[in-house]
Amino acid sequence: MPGIGDFCEFPDRVGSGSIKWEPEHLQAKFGVSDALPMWVADMDFATAPCVLDALRARLDHPLFGYTRVFEPYREAVIDWFKVQHGWTIQTDWICHAPGVVSAMNLLVLALTNPGDKIVVQPPIYYPFFSSVRDNKRELVLNPLEIDPHGLYQINFDQLEEQFSDKSVRLFMLCNPHNPGGRVWKKAELSRLIGLCIRHNILVISDEIHCDLVWPGYTHQPLPLADSRILEQCIICTASSKSFNLAGLQTSDIIIPDARLRRKYRSQLHKTGLGDPNIMGLVATEVAYRQGLDWLNELRAQLVRNLDQVELFFAEQLPDVTLMKTQATYLAWFNLNSFGVDAKIAEQALLNVGKVILNPGYIFGAPGDDWMRVNFACPAPILSDGLQRIKLGLDSL
Ligand SMILES: Cc1ncc(COP(=O)(O)O)c(C=O)c1O
Repeated sequence: MPGIGDFCEFPDRVGSGSIKWEPEHLQAKFGVSDALPMWVADMDFATAPCVLDALRARLDHPLFGYTRVFEPYREAVIDWFKVQHGWTIQTDWICHAPGVVSAMNLLVLALTNPGDKIVVQPPIYYPFFSSVRDNKRELVLNPLEIDPHGLYQINFDQLEEQFSDKSVRLFMLCNPHNPGGRVWKKAELSRLIGLCIRHNILVISDEIHCDLVWPGYTHQPLPLADSRILEQCIICTASSKSFNLAGLQTSDIIIPDARLRRKYRSQLHKTGLGDPNIMGLVATEVAYRQGLDWLNELRAQLVRNLDQVELFFAEQLPDVTLMKTQATYLAWFNLNSFGVDAKIAEQALLNVGKVILNPGYIFGAPGDDWMRVNFACPAPILSDGLQRIKLGLDSL
């Protein structure tokens, strides 16, 4: 039976305004324009046909005026999280943001004061740092450690010490974790929540990768680990990673507590970002209503891609440590075996391998000797990318 998604087709993205692919952008950012981009977290797969059909149908209505988040949209979000993740969201908890990164910045402004301390866990998706620093809050680092299985784990002792400082107001969690691909276990999240409750710390949980979790692992929305956190947490979600819709600038920020919600909305309106993008709403609603079969096919393809990455590293780069990716289409590998500075390895990958990855140092110190590779592309492109990685690393 033919599938719904086409994961062999390789749409030419040059000329589409893609930050991942436009040669001038790559030249300005990385100093190369002819290398294969395997960096920023969007996929080289067309979105679901049901999404494209719904967007085309919306074009039959010739007006694109100011829009509000409509009820069927909220219902689609609620049903998705209920069915996919077993989490019941109430309608009025759903707040809009153009993106999770803008929401993180708005939340920092809304919920903390200049000089307050905010804890984040490097290596971490780099806007976690900028949302704290750019808004003149103080960053407190609780670096992740590597456990005996080679996976990231939380340093709870240090975290407890940090939380006992009264000027720490907020903790920002990445669940599942980017770049390490960890799916935090219920026991880990419960322990975390226990500390947040004991020390009265607010938590932002960025759950944007929640639908892309690999066989054997289950995403735990933070409040499901311990519902006592409901009034102290904000969960950031979006359809953008799961359905490749980041350019439509639509995300859902779930804020169960009315007081926190008021503060967030007031900040949103102050910055003039409150009005949603109609096409983003249409796309997300239909993705959540009709996109599950496509998403299942996508997940199967991404699991095959991950197998391909793991096999390649095991056979072709046996000295390189590849962290076990439990979620996300991002793989994370270590450069220690080359005994060179990470910046030299980065240049070798760019200039010899002709492949663009994300260097680990942008994710914060424990990530310094690592590289992140985006494997969400058709299999032949992935094979080419892996060969380029080997070529670059072999030149060291
Ligand atoms: C953990 C995480 N949060 C947020 C984002 C970006 O979210 P948005 O595009 O909604 O700002 C990304 C994108 O890579 C991400 O990996």
